[in-house]
Amino acid sequence: MHIHCFCSLLFLLLTSSRADALFGHGVFRCQFTSTEDIVYLLQLYVNKLLLIEYNSTLGKYAGYTEKAKKIADAINLNSSILRQEKKNEMKCKTQFPLLLESMGSHLEPSVSLRSVDAAGSKHPGMLVCSVYYIYPKPIRVTWLRNGKEVISDVTSTEELSNGNWLYQIHCYLEFTPTPGEKISCMVEHASLKEPKLYDWDPTSESQNNKIAVGTSGLLLGLVFFVAGLISYKKNHFGRVLVATS
Ligand SMILES: *[C@@H]1O[C@H](CO)[C@@H](O)[C@H](O)[C@H]1NC(C)=O
Ligand SMILES: *[C@@H]1O[C@H](CO)[C@@H](O)[C@H](O)[C@H]1NC(C)=O
Repeated sequence: MHIHCFCSLLFLLLTSSRADALFGHGVFRCQFTSTEDIVYLLQLYVNKLLLIEYNSTLGKYAGYTEKAKKIADAINLNSSILRQEKKNEMKCKTQFPLLLESMGSHLEPSVSLRSVDAAGSKHPGMLVCSVYYIYPKPIRVTWLRNGKEVISDVTSTEELSNGNWLYQIHCYLEFTPTPGEKISCMVEHASLKEPKLYDWDPTSESQNNKIAVGTSGLLLGLVFFVAGLISYKKNHFGRVLVATS
């Protein structure tokens, strides 16, 4: 399974060449499908048209118009610029996975247990165990009856992507309530030292207020992430101006 991640930042530059100002923007991208497969990209657009791009897989700049090709060829002869891009690539390869891991290790998924309408089932009851804020993706969610794993009448969704590195999963159990039995949802995940049990309490239906837990950790991670990117961007702003002129 691959993490699909892409981090980008925009910066703007205005070149006032006579009356008609050009609108340019550059994007630094650290794009990865796994921690082993990371591509660093620097893309420069003028009036929304991609003119020049550095792609770490190729290890050089490429131009997309006649003039930009000439500029790219010239930049590719400048070893100090290429060395800088290698450094950026290393930053991308070392810092972003660390950031993801540090976020992940503190991000315990949040679990909500509730009963839902069992229409169409041969059993009168149905429970759903919903797990949110999952990172990294691998997770095992099982149902236990009196401490023993329930195999039948259990269904589950896939790990559904939230589109923001996080996943959620919903596991269903169709059952016939029996007095005295204990039903639990068991979650096994990298963020947990040991499997965590969530017991079903038929007398309370207010079990789904745990959802907000974990958001603060996520926000903190994002603040560091954006701060890092801004300082990263500042180091390069000057050079990109040179490249376009
Ligand atoms: C970077 O270059 C590699 C090798 O040519 C290519 O497969 C990949 O699609 C490029 N990435 C982007 C975003 O253009
Ligand atoms: C390479 O680029 C840097 C930064 O833009 C510049 O200062 C330097 O003069 C260039 N070197 C050559 C050999 O063109």
